[in-house]
Order: sequence, then structure tokens, then C-alpha cells
Amino acid sequence: MRHLPKGIPDPNLLVGLDTSDDAGVYKISDETALIQTVDFFTPIVDDPRMFGQIAAANALSDVYAMGGKPLTVLNIVGFPVKKLDHSILAEILSGASEKVQEAGAVLIGGHSIDDQEPKFGMAVTGLIHPSKVWTNSGAKPGDALILTKPIGVGIQTTAIKKDALTDEQLERVIQVMVTLNKTSSEVLRQFDVHACTDVTGFGLLGHAKEMACGSNVGLNILSDQVPVLEGTRKLAEEGFVPGGTKANHKWLQSNVNYAETMDQIQQYILCDAVTSGGLLAALPQDQAETAVRKLRNAGVEFASVIGHVVSDHAGCITVK
Ligand code: CO
Ligand code: CO
Ligand code: CO
Repeated sequence: MRHLPKGIPDPNLLVGLDTSDDAGVYKISDETALIQTVDFFTPIVDDPRMFGQIAAANALSDVYAMGGKPLTVLNIVGFPVKKLDHSILAEILSGASEKVQEAGAVLIGGHSIDDQEPKFGMAVTGLIHPSKVWTNSGAKPGDALILTKPIGVGIQTTAIKKDALTDEQLERVIQVMVTLNKTSSEVLRQFDVHACTDVTGFGLLGHAKEMACGSNVGLNILSDQVPVLEGTRKLAEEGFVPGGTKANHKWLQSNVNYAETMDQIQQYILCDAVTSGGLLAALPQDQAETAVRKLRNAGVEFASVIGHVVSDHAGCITVK
């Protein structure tokens, strides 16, 4: 995205391309701003309905990560019309529609093309008060960091392709990916969130790094507090580390200091490329315990304090 031309500056553009944020935000009145985002990808699970749900939850998430409420949705579809049965596409769309309804948003259109392999995603528009936008750039030293979903999704979904997951593991990772960040976002809105993003392709440490750079702070992550899907380490040891995860690890080398006791597998897990991950939020330390309790009471079972914000080593992450 950084290669896009910048265009003419517009005072109503509250969040644009400069800050690696989850979505663009454009003010249309003193009370209202639009959040706009788009995301699509190829199937990561075999079940077409689940794929639709995952892609929808993932696309809607960027609106929740900005603190907003999804309003309208446009479907984006690539489908091999001559190769695959039409009923598969119907299942993808119906899975997605279930998540759009759960979000309280409305599907208003979309576009499809004949394609080599299926692709699905959405452009989502959401609403937010212009002064209540959560960006990457507001984290303050002393803040606690909360993560709302477990990581390890990239490693586990890579193992799906080789049939290496148990039924329970498969069910669990799909459950994590289809879960909307709606409840997390709504609960966190009751607190003074200083910065927020969602954990997706750049992994926990990649998105944490964007927050650290955006906010000009350092982040300390307590690796033993980070929720990880069960069995992830074993799968990583068996070789199911996706290329994207290794690329994240390499890209982050100069921004992350790992504890000496951590081996490469542990480092990969923290860099693991996630689909439809949780929210990573920075909020005052004295609100963190209550926030986690409220999140868990609302059903966000993995919500945890995973570290805190410091003033030194701006742009860097220290993993203990
Ligand atoms: Co995002
Ligand atoms: Co996105
Ligand atoms: Co944000």
C-alpha cells in the first residue's frame, strides 16, 4: 500500500495511508466518520461455508479494530465457473452472509469474476464518531497490552493442508477464525483504549511493531502470557511453519529483541501469520484487569494482558 500515490491532502481524511492502520477513516460531519476497508483471499479451509464465514469475519475485523461499527458490505468474488459447482459458491456466500447479519451490517452488492481459483472477501464500510477512532498511534508508556484471540493460526492452517490436525484442533482453529471481533470491540469501547489494531498477516509481533512505530514507544511482550492455540509448537516442530511467518520473522529481526532462552520455534509462533486474529489494544494499566474480566465474562475466553508499553526503545519490541 505504501507504493500508492498520496493524492491531494484532504482535511477530512482522518486516517489515511501514512500510518499502517487497519482501515481508512473519512469525516463526513462533526458527528460521523466513515471507516473503509477491503480484504480478500484464497480458501484456507476445505468447507466453503466456513471459508465464507472466516473471510467475512476477517474483513469486518478492520472496522472493529478502529473502534467502529460495520454498516454496509460489498462482496468480492473470484470463482472458477467451469471447474467448480455453483453450489460451492452459494455456500461461501451463505457463510459470509451469516457473519454480516451477526455484525448487524447489510450486504448491498458486490462483484464477481471468473478466476483460476476461488477468492472471496469484502469491502466494508463502518461508522464511528470522528473523535473516537482507535489508531495505531496513541499507545502511551505505562499502558497494558491486551490480546483477545490466541495465535498459531497460520501454523495450524498450514497443517490442515497435510491433514495433520486432530478433529479438535481443526474445530478450535476454525472457531477462532469465524469469531467476530464485535464483542471484543464493544467491551473495549467501555475503556480508554489508546491504540488498537487486529492481528492478521504480519503476525502478533508484526502488528505490535506497527503500533510501536506508530506510537513512538517500545513494547514489552511477556511470551508466557500470550495465548497460543493448543498443539501449535508441536506442529511447528514438524515443519508446518508457513512462508509468510518466516518472512515476518526475518522482516522483524531488527525491531525485536528475544529473550536468550527463546528458540527459533518460539520466535516463529510469535511472528505467525494470522487470518482473522484478535484485537491488540493498549489501554491504561489500571483498567486492564477489569477489561480482561469483562471480556472473558462476555465470552472472549482467551483475552489476556500480554505485555505493556514503555518509553525507551521506540519502535522496538522486547520479548521476555
Ligand atoms: Co487489520
Ligand atoms: Co485488513
Ligand atoms: Co486501529
